[in-house]
Order: sequence, then structure tokens, then C-alpha cells
Amino acid sequence: MRAGTSDDNMMLQVSDVFCKRLPKVELHAHLNGSLSTKTLRELANLQKSLSGSDDAVWNIQEAIIEHGQKRTLEECFQLFGIAHSLTTTPAAVYKATQDVIKEFADDGVLYLELRSTPRSVPGVMSKAQYIQAMVDAIQNSTDGQILVKLMVSLDRQQGQESASETLDAVLTAHSQNPKLIVGLDLSGDPMKGSLTDYLPSLAHARNAGLKISIHCAEIPNPDEVEKILDFHPDRLGHCTCIHPLYGGSQELWIKLLNSHIPVELCLTSNVKCGTAESYKKHHFIHLFSVKHPVVLATDDKGVFSTSLSEEYMLTADSHGLSREQLWQMALSSIDYTFASEEEKNQLKDMFLQIKQLSDVQ
Ligand code: IMP
Ligand code: ZN
Repeated sequence: MRAGTSDDNMMLQVSDVFCKRLPKVELHAHLNGSLSTKTLRELANLQKSLSGSDDAVWNIQEAIIEHGQKRTLEECFQLFGIAHSLTTTPAAVYKATQDVIKEFADDGVLYLELRSTPRSVPGVMSKAQYIQAMVDAIQNSTDGQILVKLMVSLDRQQGQESASETLDAVLTAHSQNPKLIVGLDLSGDPMKGSLTDYLPSLAHARNAGLKISIHCAEIPNPDEVEKILDFHPDRLGHCTCIHPLYGGSQELWIKLLNSHIPVELCLTSNVKCGTAESYKKHHFIHLFSVKHPVVLATDDKGVFSTSLSEEYMLTADSHGLSREQLWQMALSSIDYTFASEEEKNQLKDMFLQIKQLSDVQ
């Protein structure tokens, strides 16, 4: 009996098991949105036992956490607030980071760029300590299978003063951990704040050697998209409303394609938030079909009850992709990471070894 070949592999159906086994790269995951129900509950119990606080608040939080797979959109957004209320000490940020790393590793992710907006809590934690707690958690992560890097986020509704405070903390931490802290992200409610307030901080970070990713066009905003593309970040998040069919224009779409900037695509997040009508009508297919660099991502796996394997499965299902196409998409994602060239080559070797093994099984 001959061993299976790549051609045979192409004919096989994509399945949940295949997507879970597929080695993957996760480049767009927000720490507090990625917390699982289990982690939220453990952090809540820890905080409750330390503070002995009001049961009514806890009952509401428990009810939302409890919903698990079936959350309304409103509950999705309430979860950010709940997560934030539970990650208010360096110990909680540390645990949250370690749990999220383990869950991604268990899902077959071999490389993770985890991002978070550092928060200060008066008398308890500074932004620098928040970042340090994440750095410590990454460095002490016991799962040898996954390589993890940190990106720091600026929240576009928090204003310039907060952004420059965060920038100072990031630059100091980056000078101490240049290989681990790799990038700066601009995120937050797209209806709030103005991009131009944050461009100086992003430029400063770029000059200091950090890579830049910007959440772009989650809602129609042609002026902002122009400015983002002119800034030429290293990656873009979402780019939902750039195609002329989805609230953008032909001119902006061409500008995006000509930029060749890789786009982080989070299908479930967009569908659950209602910015994309459905998985089938997601702009993924318009980028994929012209071979624009894309990487599938979860955004907030806890809030949206998803995993990176599920994102691969849902994308394959809704757009009729083969196993080989998923392999190529996962492999090419390595080129869009903010890892060193040496790390990228090591990752590619690992991916190809796993592929060879699965081809002969
Ligand atoms: P954190 O930065 O670890 O606290 O993760 C949660 C934060 O990420 C939210 O408060 C938002 O600022 C940001 N975020 C998560 N998902 C999205 C999104 O889909 N669009 C814009 N910002 C987001
Ligand atoms: Zn995001």
C-alpha cells in the first residue's frame, strides 16, 4: 500500500480534527477578550475570596460568564468590562496570560502574538507592572511547543496623555526585552477617538524598533483608512469596510491591495459584531481570491466563543477551501509575524515536518 500524497490530502474533506491538528499562527488576540469561562470564573473566585464583596454584582457576572457558547452581542461587550474588573493586579494579569497561552497551545497554535492594553490601578499596579506581569508569564510559560511574543495596545478612546504614558512604559520594557516585546497595536471602539491623535506615538514606537499593527475600517471611515494606509503599518486588523461592496470604495480597495500590507482577519468577531453580514459574505474571499496576504485570527476567543481551529474550519466551510489551501494559508502566516528571520525559518521547518508526517499518515 502506498503512502498518501499531498494530492490525496487535497481531496480529503477539511474536518474539525484536521483544523485542530494543523499547526497555526495567531497574530490578533487581545488578552482580556481571550479569557475563557474557566479563567474568568477562577479569577472571580480569587477576587471574591480576597475582597468578600457584593453578591449581586457577582451574580450578574456569573450569569454572563455562564452563558458560554450562547452570548448576545451585548453580553459579548459586557465581558470586556468583566474581564477588566478581574485583571486588576499583577498576579491576575500573570494568571490570565498563562491561561491564554496554554489554551492557544492546546489548540495547535505554535506561534502567538498576544496583545493587551496596559492599565494602571492606583496603589496596586502601574502600566509598567502590567506589562512586566505579561512578560513574566510569557517567560515562565511551561509549554515548550509555543513561541509567544507580546504586543502592547493603545486604546483609541483613552486620549493622547494615556497613550504617551503607555508609550513610555512600552519603550522601557522593549529596551529590556527586545526579542519578546515586538509591536504596538492601535485598537478600541472604532466610533471613538481620532487616529491622528495616536500617529505620533505609533511613529515614535516604529523608530524605536517596534512593529505596528492598526485596527482599520471596522466601520466605514474613508479618511481614516487613507491616513492609515499612508502611514504604512506592518499589519492591518480587519479592513472590513474597504471593499466597495462593504462601505468602502474602489479607490481605497486598490490602495489597500497595492500596499501589500498583510491583513489580520477575524471572521467570527466580525459576524458576531454585525460588521460582516455572514461568513460567506465576509471580505476574506475578496482578499484571498487576489492573493492579498491574509492571516486568520480569533480577536477575542473568550468573548466570541471561538478558537483558531474553529476559525479555519468556518472559513473552509463557507468558502470551500481544501486542506492544502489551509496548509498554505497557515504556512504563509509565518511570513507576517513579527518574529526574527531565524525564528520564522525555525517555524517553517516545524510546520513542514508536521505536514510531511501528516501526508504519510
Ligand atoms: P485588552 O487590551 O487585553 O484589555 O483586551 C480588550 C480590549 O481590546 C478591548 O477593551 C478593546 O480596547 C480591544 N479590542 C478587543 N476587540 C476589539 C475589536 O474588535 N475592535 C477594537 N478593539 C478591540
Ligand atoms: Zn482586535
